[in-house]
This record gives sequence, C-alpha cells and structure tokens, in this order.
Amino acid sequence: MESRELRERFLEFFKKREHTIVPSSSLIPDDPSVLLTTAGMQQFKPYYTGAADPFHSPHPTLGGRPLGSRNAASIQKSFRTSDIDEVGDERHLTFFEMLGNFSFGGYFKEKAIQYAYDFLREINVPIEYVTVFGGDAEVPRDEESIAIWNSYGFSMEKQNLKLMGREDNFWGPTGNEGPCGPTTEIYAGGIEIWNIVFNQYYCHPDKTLEPLKTPGVDTGMGLERLATVSQEKENIFQTDLFDPLIALLPTHLGNREKRIIVDHARAIVFLICDGVLPSNKDAGYILRRLMRRFIIRARNYSQEYFTILGKVIDRYGSVYHELNSEKTFLIFKDELSQFEKTLVAGQHELEKLQSIDAASAFRLYESYGLPYEVIKDLGGEKAKSLARDDFDKEFTKHQEISRAGQEKKFGGHGLLLDTGELKAADEREIQIVTRLHTATHLLQAALRKVLGESVRQAGSDITAERTRFDFTFDRKLTSEEIAAVEQVANRAIQDDLKVEYKEMPYEEALKTNALHFAKEKYPSIVKVYTAFDSETGRVFSQELCGGPHVQRTSEVGKLKIVKEEAIARGIRRIRAIIE
Ligand code: SER
Repeated sequence: MESRELRERFLEFFKKREHTIVPSSSLIPDDPSVLLTTAGMQQFKPYYTGAADPFHSPHPTLGGRPLGSRNAASIQKSFRTSDIDEVGDERHLTFFEMLGNFSFGGYFKEKAIQYAYDFLREINVPIEYVTVFGGDAEVPRDEESIAIWNSYGFSMEKQNLKLMGREDNFWGPTGNEGPCGPTTEIYAGGIEIWNIVFNQYYCHPDKTLEPLKTPGVDTGMGLERLATVSQEKENIFQTDLFDPLIALLPTHLGNREKRIIVDHARAIVFLICDGVLPSNKDAGYILRRLMRRFIIRARNYSQEYFTILGKVIDRYGSVYHELNSEKTFLIFKDELSQFEKTLVAGQHELEKLQSIDAASAFRLYESYGLPYEVIKDLGGEKAKSLARDDFDKEFTKHQEISRAGQEKKFGGHGLLLDTGELKAADEREIQIVTRLHTATHLLQAALRKVLGESVRQAGSDITAERTRFDFTFDRKLTSEEIAAVEQVANRAIQDDLKVEYKEMPYEEALKTNALHFAKEKYPSIVKVYTAFDSETGRVFSQELCGGPHVQRTSEVGKLKIVKEEAIARGIRRIRAIIE
C-alpha cells in the first residue's frame, strides 16, 4: 500500500472509532524541556496529567478549539537526535512520521490492543509476534495485556508473545518528567512497527513513579517502517517515501552515502520550515550539523543540493503545507556559502594532521566550523579513535574557559551575549529563565522610556536566579529613576501584553524599530520579538532575539531591581529578579 494511502487509512480508521483527528504539532515543541518533538504524545501531555481538559481547554494544533473527545489520532512529524550517528544503516532516521492514537481516560488496554490488531488486519500486515512488559521490582508484570493477546492467539507457549524488561517495554517520560508506563510492541516483517504505551504513571524529576489518576494510551507507529512491511521492501529506503529521492542520486554512490543524503535532506527541509535556523546551539546546532553533513556528502558527487531539497518539498508539500521552497533555499544558501568558505581551508588543515584526537577536532570545529560528524567523515582512518563524548567534553571545557576569560578581559563584566542561550538545568529552571528573558526585554524598554533613547544594551546574562543587564548610560540612577523603571516594567506585566515573534531577513529587521545588540552576530534570518497590547496594538518592546519568551507578559511575575552599579565608563549594570 502506498504511504499516502497508509496515512489516510490510519486516520480514517480512528476517526470512525470516535477519535478527534489532530494535525501534527511543530517540530519545535511548546514543552521547553525537550529540544525537538520526538513523539506524537507530546502535544497531549497535559491531558494525561489532568492539567488540561479535553472538552474545555483550547488545543493548540486545533486553532484553540478543544479536542472534544478523550481520544485523538495524529500523524506527527518527529525527530530523534539520538539516532544521528546511526543514520546510514537500514533502519535509522532522524526525521520521521509517526502514526499515533491516544486516549486520556477514554479507553485502555483492551481497546488499544484490539484497535491495533484490527487495523493491521485491515491493511493486510500480518503480526509476527508481540512483546509485553514482564515486570520488575517497581512495576508489576502486565498480566492484563498478556490475557488480551492470548485471546487473539498470541502466547508464550506459541512463542509469538515475549516478555521483556524495562529497557525494551517501558516508555517515557519525554523530557525530565511526565507520563510513562509499560508498553506492548508489535513486530511485523522482522521489525518493530507499533509501540503501544499504557501511561499508568507520572515520572517525577527524581525518577519516582506515581500512579496517574486517569491512565491513558499513547501509541506510535513509524510510517516509514509500516510502509516497508506493507510494501514488502527490505528496508525503509526502498519504500515510496524515499525511493524518488534515492532515484536522483547516481547509482555508483554507496548505500550509506545515499541514505545519509536523503535522510538529512528531509530533516533539513522540515526543520527549516518549522522555524529552526542554523546556529551553534540547541536545535539550531542540530540543523547546522545536518546541513554541513549533507553538503559534504552531496558535494562529493555533484552539487545538486537544491534538486534534492526541492524534491522533498515536492513529495511532502501536499501533506505538510508549511513546506516552502523559497524559505528553505534562502536559509540553505546562506549556510552553504558560509560553510564553503571555511570548508576548503578546514579540509586542508585536516589533511596536514597525522591523526585526529578530541583536542585537534575541537580546533577544527572552532576555526573552520567543521562539525564533529564532518571531521569524522573527512578524517576517515585518521579520526578512527575520535569519540563524540571526548569531543563534547572538549567543547564544554572550552566554553568554561572562554566564559572565565571574558569575565577577566572585560574587568568582571563578562559580555555574555543575549543570544537566547539558556543556562538552565531542568524544566523548572527553564521556565524561570524564560520568564527572566522576557523580563529583560521589558526592563530594557522601561529603561529607555525613563532614561531616554540613549540607553542601549551592552551585555546581558541570565541565570535561574536573576537577570543581569548592562547598558550605556553615563551616571548613577537615582532611587526615583529606579522606582520608575520598575513601575513601567511592572505596568507592562500587569497589562498582560502579548509576546510574539516574526521571522524576517536580518536586513529587513534592521529597518524596523526593533532593538538589536550591536555586538551580536545575527544570522541572516532573525526573530523579532514584540510585546504589545493585543487590543490597541500599542508596542511596548521590540527586539531581535533568539528567544524563548513567555506568551503573555503576566507570566513574568513581578520585576524587582536589586542592584544598580557602574561596571565601566559609561556602562551601568542592573541586576533584577522576578517574584
Ligand atoms: N510515545 C511512544 C513512542 O514514541 C508511543 O507513541 O514510541
């Protein structure tokens, strides 16, 4: 069956069984504790915990309408960074589509297993065997699922039901905490195709499990794998999801090479079109790594980058309307020209080395922008003993040194740039830091309103405890001025302004009134964050910034300036907290 039909049949099947069909959420999740969307259940997390109500709470991917049902189904764009290094074999991907049905207190094990069984029968995919959670010290063996599978003719005696441990048959949480539970997995054509999770517990950050009040179902079936089995192919790359892309590549290329090119091409297009921009951190760094790896691979045979990326958009555009070739090409072109400049020099440098260890790899990264994978690729034998862990350690070590160095160089007022870099350890901290990030924008706007437009950002640093903002001003602030700044900022918080961003080319952003930080190197496409009154449209603050920010200023809390001092001639520093 063609993949297009598999998608349709899946949604139709669950629609008939009282599921609300929900569009895929973005690859950039609302949940700040995860970098990218890795599973279909993420957009439903609040329903499992009871934090949202499926009949009343507005659902983001339904334009704010409630789900209107305890059951939902979707085809979710998903991304697994953990698999980047594995791509090239027969089954690993970074980006993939996941078919899923979900229930939050609607149905549980009996129906979930029945639906999976019936759907696979309907599309003629025979189940080879199933696995069930076998129990451990903390969570008992899943007797209920065993009994249900028995009634469909699967049992341990027949060896088409296997009991597995925590490693294999227990799922979640995504991020630091959240719903999780035992799973039952379905195998067909030699591969695992469907993972059915019974969300029975809430996993706290300290890893303790608490039973959920309303248990739920979360299932996920990779479309690529299902298509492999349904189309009776040997591997995902032979399915109609990849075949047209592979067909563009010269036949003499090795399989591994081809797979990396097509996997990365899909991932690049989907990430860019969901708003990720190449950069040196977080999701931006993942995109940059994929782009550079793709460039290196595709460069080896011809430079058909745009043909391949264009084909992805062709193939997927009718299902995913956000795909846009203009945007993709613009961002890709920019990265390509940046990378090509240093690539030649980097390659030359690499050739001079006898062997490549973590320290020399990091130097290549730092001076020529060659990412780890690229060094590994280009280095071949020479980079054989280079391991990602060691490279990462080198990275962290260097960051610390450079931070300390900056503090020293600027006489203690380390110009840590306001690039949206979040130094936070867990979900709670990320939330505080996000609020402080918005507070910093409000603070800058308030300073300019009280002290005049000569105030410009000279640096900023945010930790989970406070924001530290440096700005140009030539004298000490009076206590009245400090009070006035607090008042103006807190007024903006009370007014519950809306915080939104627009993406635009850097050149265009400069033409707006948005504040930008002269010392910052911005990418060619930037985000302009605006805090404005949604009724009157009055703009309170507008800045170029990577984010993230809260959605409404009332989420910030109360801003309090705790210290104001000079740090250099003409530069003042404010420390502020939120309460
Ligand atoms: N959340 C589970 C998975 O991603 C099932 O959807 O495998």
